Amino acid sequence: MEPFNASLPMWKLTDRMAMYMNKRFQAIIQKQEIAIPFPREWSIPLLMDCNLAVDVVARAFGNRVSTGWDAHDYVGQLSPRNTGQNPAVEANLRKEFPPIHEKLREYNTPLLVTDKNGNALTWYLPGAVSRSRQDLMWSALKLLEPELKVKHTDQWRTAAENYRDPRESELKPGTVSMSPAWFEQGHDTEKYALKVSRPLVAEDSAAGRWLGAMMESSALIGGILSLVHPDLYHAGRDLILHLDQNPGSVDRPDRLRDILLAWTAPFQGLSVISNRVTPAHRDINAARESMDVLVALGKYRNGTLNLPGIGVALQYNPGTVAVLAARLLLHSAECDGERACVAYYMREKVQQRLGIAQPGWFCPEKID
Ligand SMILES: [Fe+2]
Repeated sequence: MEPFNASLPMWKLTDRMAMYMNKRFQAIIQKQEIAIPFPREWSIPLLMDCNLAVDVVARAFGNRVSTGWDAHDYVGQLSPRNTGQNPAVEANLRKEFPPIHEKLREYNTPLLVTDKNGNALTWYLPGAVSRSRQDLMWSALKLLEPELKVKHTDQWRTAAENYRDPRESELKPGTVSMSPAWFEQGHDTEKYALKVSRPLVAEDSAAGRWLGAMMESSALIGGILSLVHPDLYHAGRDLILHLDQNPGSVDRPDRLRDILLAWTAPFQGLSVISNRVTPAHRDINAARESMDVLVALGKYRNGTLNLPGIGVALQYNPGTVAVLAARLLLHSAECDGERACVAYYMREKVQQRLGIAQPGWFCPEKID
């Protein structure tokens, strides 16, 4: 790995966590009982959070199920606008690419789902985030409340009908998305500039304060990504470093610098979703081989993340990290109670604009 960019000092944390976590992961899967050195400035809770996440990834690595089909073939059959909401199209896909289980099968222990060639489609990591870090992340969400919005629209992501009643919610229901560089909706062709997303434009914004409170936690998510999809970690990292070195890539280079100082996640964008039911869908703005990272937070039990296309239902309780091929896999989430999700992702068109190549599928067996 190239040395971290000294102009973004917090990247030192993300990279060091990734390096430490990779060494620990290698030691575990090679059954070596060695102590991995860690930076002296780390707190013990931070070290324990890294260890916990690595241990859960290692358990998933050793517990695999696979489809009978190839991911390349599957995405080859998806039209660019396939959001998963046309039942006839889904029935045909299901015939050609049968699910692993005909009836949804529930899982509640760490699991890796691959295609028939060993390419990772889902890493299911229940309990990967410690209770104390969940508490930190949950309380940080209060900072974001001024930005959490619902709308009267037919777009399910923001439509009020999919959110809990605010009078019954501790955390204000709504969604906010943010990125140091992205296209406004419907303005993603050559002639448009990349923009700093609106919640981050103002100095001392609610979103900026939340990012600041999440620096260590987002770096931890980066460390997890470096294990479950190393090439995607590097693509996300390259994208952030590219923005740092080319601030003129976005409309507000003056704001970019401040944002990147707190942007420790190796992703181009993220959304925080509070108290919403999520119907089955595909995320069509991601590259076909990309993976999103979802972090479940809240005060609920009995949450479920359903992947109906492969016949898998994942128990989705607070502290779960799910890494999904979100363009390929239909996914929906539901649970009773107070909950939020932080979703980290890449947008294909932004990667293309900035010249960041999309990695292919990752085959974890190659780690052995
Ligand atoms: Fe999604």
